[in-house]
Amino acid sequence: MKVTVFGIGYVGLVQAAVLASVGHDVMCVDIDENKVENLKKGIIPIYEPGLTNLVTETYQNGMLKFTTNASEGVNHGQLQFIAVGTPPDEDGSADLKYVLAVASTIAEHMQTPKIIIDKSTVPVGTADKVSARIAEVLAARDSILTFDVVSNPEFLKEGAAVSDCMKPDRIVIGTDNEESREAMKQLYAPFNRNHDRIIYMDVRSAELTKYAANCMLATKISFMNEISNLAELLGADIEAVRHGIGSDSRIGYQFIYPGCGYGGSCFPKDVQALVKAAHGINYQPALLEAVESVNYRQKQKLFTNLNNHFNGNLKGKTIAVWGLSFKPQTDDMREASARVLMESLWDAGASVQAYDPEAMEECQRIYGSKADLSLMGTKESALKGADALVVCTEWSQFRAPDFDLIEQSLSTNVIVDGRNLYDPALMKKLGFSYYGIGRGDSVKTLTK
Ligand SMILES: NC(=O)c1ccc[n+]([C@@H]2O[C@H](COP(=O)([O-])OP(=O)(O)OC[C@H]3O[C@@H](n4cnc5c(N)ncnc54)[C@H](O)[C@@H]3O)[C@@H](O)[C@H]2O)c1
Repeated sequence: MKVTVFGIGYVGLVQAAVLASVGHDVMCVDIDENKVENLKKGIIPIYEPGLTNLVTETYQNGMLKFTTNASEGVNHGQLQFIAVGTPPDEDGSADLKYVLAVASTIAEHMQTPKIIIDKSTVPVGTADKVSARIAEVLAARDSILTFDVVSNPEFLKEGAAVSDCMKPDRIVIGTDNEESREAMKQLYAPFNRNHDRIIYMDVRSAELTKYAANCMLATKISFMNEISNLAELLGADIEAVRHGIGSDSRIGYQFIYPGCGYGGSCFPKDVQALVKAAHGINYQPALLEAVESVNYRQKQKLFTNLNNHFNGNLKGKTIAVWGLSFKPQTDDMREASARVLMESLWDAGASVQAYDPEAMEECQRIYGSKADLSLMGTKESALKGADALVVCTEWSQFRAPDFDLIEQSLSTNVIVDGRNLYDPALMKKLGFSYYGIGRGDSVKTLTK
């Protein structure tokens, strides 16, 4: 099938390459000329396991194309995906300006009927807005071309995006239009062979499904973080509690890791956007508001632990930071806990020596050159002469480090472990002041 994808980001590029890999003829359109030129040269803008090979192969065999020419893009596909960003507006609601700009572009250039697919995460009612925008532009052109807007939210996880798109848990398709339904079924048939993964529903339910999924996952994280704070104050060990509750199949082990708060481009903005949407219809989403405020507090925790350890005197201290991305297997630093930590450290007059396996360039892009930020080539070099080590991201290479080397490299033996990678008993035995998350007697530092 001929497919056009607007927006070559984490979602659009992966989706486009995966569709091209099964034989669809896919053209990607982006307004970022640099990104498009680089992709044509084989330079992939993001780190995502398996993506480079997939993009290179499909580009070379001609099934994947890149352009900044909107007219060329619109006239390529019968199916037009909108996969542009929906960042938070100033008040936290989803900013639809990029989505609606693409809707206008499609309407300006279309010469044949189109199926427009909202892949971006968008509030309930957005398909109606996209339809209205397209109808408006077509009317201004005196055009009677037909179109339909489908909601097809994306559930991929950064860090496993290619495999998630290749083998999705479910494919949600929101439409009441029979022709669109058939086209979407045909498009996804190669990913639907093992068993039927397609769930059809109306457009508004599909839009809400995406927010409900992300808010549910964020709720699990904030719930565990809340319990971890109680565990600290009550002298319990959250890791024992985690095992204890995860063994209940109604709860399960997934997404109940305590930590230093959720980040990334989705959970924070999607929880906020649903809260805002609820306010807009005069509903107070008490649970979602709490999920967000627990997460905000949790993200301060690494700094609070350090600050308490050094009795509020972090000025002139150097802190080694392991992990900058919001989670492992990605270079994405949007809303990462490491950013909250580093910015608090800088405000307090401390310096940072940071290392991340993939996010160093992204960190450099965000913060530029700063005297109080040194991006180090290895996790070992980040330790040299530092006063403490903070683990922000659970990359596998941080899981079993050489503790002797850490001890020799740090000037004071302090480890703040935002992901509970290490055993508090071993840390104590090795002589470290160790601050995990919710590890009973090892810490008593609930953020005030
Ligand atoms: N990142 C994720 O893990 C993830 C997962 C599921 C859903 N989503 C949702 O998917 C959407 C896209 O997210 P992302 O992380 O891929 O965003 P992104 O910021 O990585 O990429 C967006 C791309 O859209 C391009 N763009 C903006 N305006 C454009 C226009 N008018 N025409 C063509 N291109 C344009 C930008 O240049 C950029 O390359 C968001 O709504 C997000 O919430 C993201």
